[in-house]
Amino acid sequence: MTSRIISLLAPLAGLLHLTSGLDLDLTSIDSIKSVTSTLAYDMMTYYSGNQTGQIPGLLPGPCDSLECYYWWEAGAMFGSLINYWQYTGDDSYNPVVIQALQFQIGPEENFNPPNQSKNMGVDDQDFWAFSAMDAAEAGLPDVGGDTPSWLALAQAVFNFQTTLWEDSTCGGGMRWQVYAFNAGYNLKNTISNGGYFQLAARLARYTGNQTYADWAIKMYDWMEASPLFQTHDDTLYIWDNTDANNNCTDVQHFAWTYNYGTMLMGAAALYNYTGGAEPWGTRVFEILDGAFKLFFPEEYGGNVMTEFQCESTMVCNNDQSSFKAYLARWMAVTALIVPDTYDLIMPKLRESASAAAQQCTGGASGRACGRQWYAANDGSSGVGQQMQALAVIGATTINPGIAPKTANTGGTSESKPDAGTDVGNAPIPQHSPITTADKAGAAILTLMCVGVIVGGSIWIIL
Ligand SMILES: *[C@@H]1O[C@H](CO)[C@@H](O)[C@H](O)[C@H]1NC(C)=O
Ligand SMILES: *[C@@H]1O[C@H](CO)[C@@H](O)[C@H](O)[C@H]1NC(C)=O
Ligand SMILES: *[C@@H]1O[C@H](CO)[C@@H](O)[C@H](O)[C@H]1NC(C)=O
Ligand SMILES: *[C@@H]1O[C@H](CO)[C@@H](O)[C@H](O)[C@H]1NC(C)=O
Ligand SMILES: *[C@@H]1O[C@H](CO)[C@@H](O)[C@H](O)[C@H]1NC(C)=O
Repeated sequence: MTSRIISLLAPLAGLLHLTSGLDLDLTSIDSIKSVTSTLAYDMMTYYSGNQTGQIPGLLPGPCDSLECYYWWEAGAMFGSLINYWQYTGDDSYNPVVIQALQFQIGPEENFNPPNQSKNMGVDDQDFWAFSAMDAAEAGLPDVGGDTPSWLALAQAVFNFQTTLWEDSTCGGGMRWQVYAFNAGYNLKNTISNGGYFQLAARLARYTGNQTYADWAIKMYDWMEASPLFQTHDDTLYIWDNTDANNNCTDVQHFAWTYNYGTMLMGAAALYNYTGGAEPWGTRVFEILDGAFKLFFPEEYGGNVMTEFQCESTMVCNNDQSSFKAYLARWMAVTALIVPDTYDLIMPKLRESASAAAQQCTGGASGRACGRQWYAANDGSSGVGQQMQALAVIGATTINPGIAPKTANTGGTSESKPDAGTDVGNAPIPQHSPITTADKAGAAILTLMCVGVIVGGSIWIIL
């Protein structure tokens, strides 16, 4: 009864303190729920895909200007809303999430819609597949009828991507881009290969099918032997990308939260799938240790997550402004399925959550979040900024009751191991010729990457 009254008064308190941002009390579950609800609401003000005449699943675009969001980030956002439902019990966004995930299913019954061919990366598909996996693991019921199950969607992406494995350069791995006509086809990057690793590992854990684990192990072994992984002074560095044109002999020295996050999540899933067998326990702790040293700098007390490559220099693009959301969410799942990590992870999530909340003081509302959790509001705002704060604050509520389900522990999503492979002649990807506007867009992105290099390399001196 008392908590009821408090939550009824909460909106009033919000009005009285309009300029002081979000009042987060981590000792009160009602406070956390109220704050995450506000964050989700504000995040969804950017989304109009469920309105008449709009395209379900897409955030504002297309990306030939800077004020746009690529297809993948929308997919990731819907996964963050599935976690939000688990964190708070508030299912009010589930219909929007279900509609979006279904609408973006391509003709091959996976996440490869022809409208996105023009810049379709392996990683882009993975973020949609992760959200389908989130749905299966959270116990969101399958839609039924002719609609593929959540699990079948993830299996279809796995089946499609397995055909992209390439031994002829770099001794294996996958290229970033699905299609050779796209810029970046030369790169083999961590989020694509690590995305496939995570997807395969979660499929192994959910279904119990060893074939997925075998592919996850093959991918991990390739990545570990490549220059993407490097150990220096007892710290595991997981770099961003390497170039197939040079047979992957060099590597770009950028470290991003989501790359550590995706490797952590996959290793945690395999740890749990194998009943805690080595080498997965060791790997989980190595990846976690590397992430702690790089992204939770002592400078800010050692427990506040920081995207150091771009935050202090204010050069994060819309993609990069969402990356901390994924590390936060995947750390939270790791704490549940690798129980020995719980005590290490929770203080980092809690302090990051407090830090994230205190800087949500921007915009006309007086509560828009920026990027720098370690400082006052930096004046930036967007989907990623909201998603990051939502993820880390929501993650403080985790409990064993929301550990990802498997087919043996209450998961009901229907398995279809051959998903996506039985649809007959898959249509050729539709791609209009690359236009001048597209080239301009790509040039802007390249320039932004250069900005990031300048911002980041000062930090890591190896
Ligand atoms: C679209 O989704 C929002 C939640 O983000 C909801 O409030 C709104 O009613 C939905 N609009 C339609 C037309 O379904
Ligand atoms: C693809 O683009 C067309 C034209 O804008 C649109 O009508 C359709 O809904 C889009 N499909 C998807 C899956 O985004
Ligand atoms: C390319 O790299 C792989 C893996 O390191 C190696 O096995 C292969 O011999 C290399 N190929 C060439 C042509 O150097
Ligand atoms: C696997 O995860 C479950 C939670 O889903 C947990 O109860 C169990 O202890 C984990 N297994 C191991 C070996 O840690
Ligand atoms: C396990 O997964 C593989 C790869 O998709 C599939 O070929 C095989 O049929 C699956 N086995 C079972 C028992 O579902």
